[in-house]
Amino acid sequence: MNKKPICFFDSGIGGATILKEVVKQLPNENYVYYADSKNNPYGNKTKEELFNIISSVVDNLLKYDPKLIICACNTATEVVLNDIRKKYPNLTFVGTEPAIKVIHDKYQNKKTLVLTTKGTGESKRFKALFNNYKTPDCTLIEAPFLAGLIENNKDPYPYLKDLLKNYKDIDIVVLGCTHFPLAKEAIKKVLGDVMFIDGSIGITDRIKNILKDNLNYNGGNINIISTKGNVSEAILKIIN
Ligand code: DGL
Repeated sequence: MNKKPICFFDSGIGGATILKEVVKQLPNENYVYYADSKNNPYGNKTKEELFNIISSVVDNLLKYDPKLIICACNTATEVVLNDIRKKYPNLTFVGTEPAIKVIHDKYQNKKTLVLTTKGTGESKRFKALFNNYKTPDCTLIEAPFLAGLIENNKDPYPYLKDLLKNYKDIDIVVLGCTHFPLAKEAIKKVLGDVMFIDGSIGITDRIKNILKDNLNYNGGNINIISTKGNVSEAILKIIN
């Protein structure tokens, strides 16, 4: 048994959409969730800015003695996680990437939109992933303002209505940012009854796989830390 916490971080509340699935499947773990709302949106930062921000997040998480750090953010994963792994070789990180491989493996003939932040859409690592797994009718759309609207509890519908106005008969939307599952209703209002795919199940499987001999059977504590304002209530609402 290993009681050390699994630590999550994101640019605010978005990563809680991953935490929700992990807590559901591993309810006896202890968790630290670090909401870096002060630096939201990560998606519009340069690589250098993001490297410094994530280094400081990791430095803060070190005091909790994490057994695993979950980068619950597609943007940070695609833009800087490789460099962060090199900087902290003794820590184990799990990243989050848009679940485009699921489309490739299961939904070749579906009309698909992949929604990402600007940072993810323009990153080298994601471009390679997209080119490798894109299906015949698959379109990438960057939504640079969506994560900020969600983080600040603003209605994303008017923005999405304009952003997605040229898309019809879409079957699947890949939610390539952990904030975006929180805009599912608004996306449906624009595109109709689409199917959504996000990375939460894949990440939970990965965590279970890494921790198989290091699970905890007597925890269940969730410690929420925020760099701006109090987001505990919003995060608990997402998880429950
Ligand atoms: N939730 C993050 C992601 O998955 C970051 C969004 C942002 O801050 O731009 O990309």
